[in-house]
Amino acid sequence: MSLTRVSRSDSLELHEGVDNAAFQEDGGRADSEKTDGQVAADCPSSSLNLDGAESSYTQIKPYAGMSKEVLLLYSRQARYRLPREILFWLVIVSTLVLLAVNITVIALSPRCLSWWQSSPVYQIYPRSFKDSNNDGIGDLKGIQDKLDHLNYLNIKAIWISPFYKSPMRDFGYDVEDFRDIDPIFGTMKDFDDLLVSMHDKGLRLIMDFIPNHSSDNHVWFQNSRRREEPYTDYYVWANCTRDKLPNNWVSVFGNSSWTYDSVREQCYLHQFLKEQPDLNFRNPDVRREMTDIIRFWLDKGVDGFRMDAVKHILEAPHLRDEPQVNASQPPEQVNTEFELHHDYTYTQVGLHDILRGWRAELDTYSREPGRYRFMVTESYDYEEIDKTMMYYSTDFARESDFPFNFYLMDLPQGLSGARAQELVSLWMTNMPRGQWPNWVVGNHDKPRMSSSVGKEYISAINMMMLTLPGTPTTYYGEEIGMENVHIHIEDIQDPFGKFDPNASRDPQRSPMQWSSEPNAGFSGNGTGTWLPIHPNYTTVNVEAQKGNDSSVLEQYRRLSLLRESEMALHRGWMCFVWSDVDVFVYLREQDGLDRAFLVLINLGRNATTDLSSISGLPEHFRVHTSTVPKNQGRSYDRAAVPTKKGEGLLLEFSSNQRFHTSHASSCYISERACYLNVLDIMYKC
Ligand code: GLC
Repeated sequence: MSLTRVSRSDSLELHEGVDNAAFQEDGGRADSEKTDGQVAADCPSSSLNLDGAESSYTQIKPYAGMSKEVLLLYSRQARYRLPREILFWLVIVSTLVLLAVNITVIALSPRCLSWWQSSPVYQIYPRSFKDSNNDGIGDLKGIQDKLDHLNYLNIKAIWISPFYKSPMRDFGYDVEDFRDIDPIFGTMKDFDDLLVSMHDKGLRLIMDFIPNHSSDNHVWFQNSRRREEPYTDYYVWANCTRDKLPNNWVSVFGNSSWTYDSVREQCYLHQFLKEQPDLNFRNPDVRREMTDIIRFWLDKGVDGFRMDAVKHILEAPHLRDEPQVNASQPPEQVNTEFELHHDYTYTQVGLHDILRGWRAELDTYSREPGRYRFMVTESYDYEEIDKTMMYYSTDFARESDFPFNFYLMDLPQGLSGARAQELVSLWMTNMPRGQWPNWVVGNHDKPRMSSSVGKEYISAINMMMLTLPGTPTTYYGEEIGMENVHIHIEDIQDPFGKFDPNASRDPQRSPMQWSSEPNAGFSGNGTGTWLPIHPNYTTVNVEAQKGNDSSVLEQYRRLSLLRESEMALHRGWMCFVWSDVDVFVYLREQDGLDRAFLVLINLGRNATTDLSSISGLPEHFRVHTSTVPKNQGRSYDRAAVPTKKGEGLLLEFSSNQRFHTSHASSCYISERACYLNVLDIMYKC
């Protein structure tokens, strides 16, 4: 074997290197001598016999051709050994240092906020957002046409209420096919196009997932009624007669939650409409089906789910009567949800296991870089807030990113600054440590806040939502201060409203007011829209408010942008500072940052608030943003901070002292992190 046999043109080493005699074991004698001679010339103290050949060696390549023995002889000398060892240890030490720095950086870095934390979630009720085909009902293409509006508001997450194929008894919450789009809303292609457009514009899509029930038109139910396997037990069936129902359970929409089915000659359970039979989650096949549906939409690329009516998913199999709230009420008169204790129909053991199973699915899909899949649960637990908190993930088990916080919707009952603090505090004191708060003041099920508290408070409430810690949810139209529309009793569309007109959800579902054009720019339909447009649309609309600094829309937008750009607002501490009948005052600050904010939300009358008794506040504040534009840029003394009725005031100040350190019991943070100014980085502290 000899490298010299490799032709010069073939071997880069031999081109650029030397005629390496050490490898020329045969017939390379002369070359070998040449090379040895070269070494001897460089090292005169050598005792080797190095006569002759160096003169023919012109390249300066001192070690080339040296035999191992010769190399070893020199390499042991201190002047070679020492630098070599120093270099060796330098490499080892710097590798270890780099490794340690990496581990420290990873260990000390706080988590980055995810997309569902960094912007408000915007709820679209698709029937009412934008009608693209002029049939008077909103649709998916309509939503796609209006995505720029969401970009304008700096929204990144959109929850769209259901658009599955449905007979629309409960306007989409009665699903006939969980894998199809209702023709009223468009086609699957429209959905795919919408999702692509949303992702292109940096928007994430949260779908409504309705696990508790299907429509009675669903093929599973039709097969179940006929006892066709494997569907026989897909729903909750019980023996009964037309006159003798299985128990006293009542539906959320009123009257018994059992309906006799003449085909199967049994009763089926429905905790909502009789056209919404409850699926039987004690049947593993049903659980598998529903998980497959989640996968179907995740495969399509949706970014998360709002899990509908989760507390209803399981019922006690023994079907015992539920206790009456008023034991002396004649049982035959009990026909509403609030007249029973729901010991056997709500929040049953096993529910959280089901939700955690779905969470695990989402987590599997979240492994794709940059594609975190989000989960929010819907459960009205009223005074049992501990039940709501159970939907948060724990250190041991992942569940929802947050359960919807509906408690601020109670604001109209006793509206005041103190009431606002009480409701915010209710969430903050009950939320498990380290979890992420969220705030809801309206949705398709509850009256619009602007109508219940008065529109003069709406900008202040929007400011509160956007400056509290956590994710606000904005129901379409809240960003322009839309109000409930009046619907004549005979025109009620909502099934709940048909049972009890006072409970009708139509008023908060009126079409979005885009402009002062006919139908508020929502639809070009000459014969009207599915619900009437609010008559105030000529002034309360997107077009009219755009560009007007004092409008609800522009104030919303400004605060939404500010929430993102100000670290103290999106991830800093929140401290309760003051509350009274008029104002709710809280502070936002970030460790490591001198710039902090004080927020005053006036939910009463014109007021002047004296904050001089609160230690740790500066003497003066500068108005950063006010919903009363003429107050912009003013400076206030802490002993007398004026707010107008319904004003939202964001005050700014600079201090190198942190308020939370001296008011620990009234301050909250989800995940503590400090900002290091010199390096412009955050670290856990
Ligand atoms: C949820 C929805 C509501 C619907 C009900 C039944 O509460 O928000 O609109 O009627 O579930 O699906």
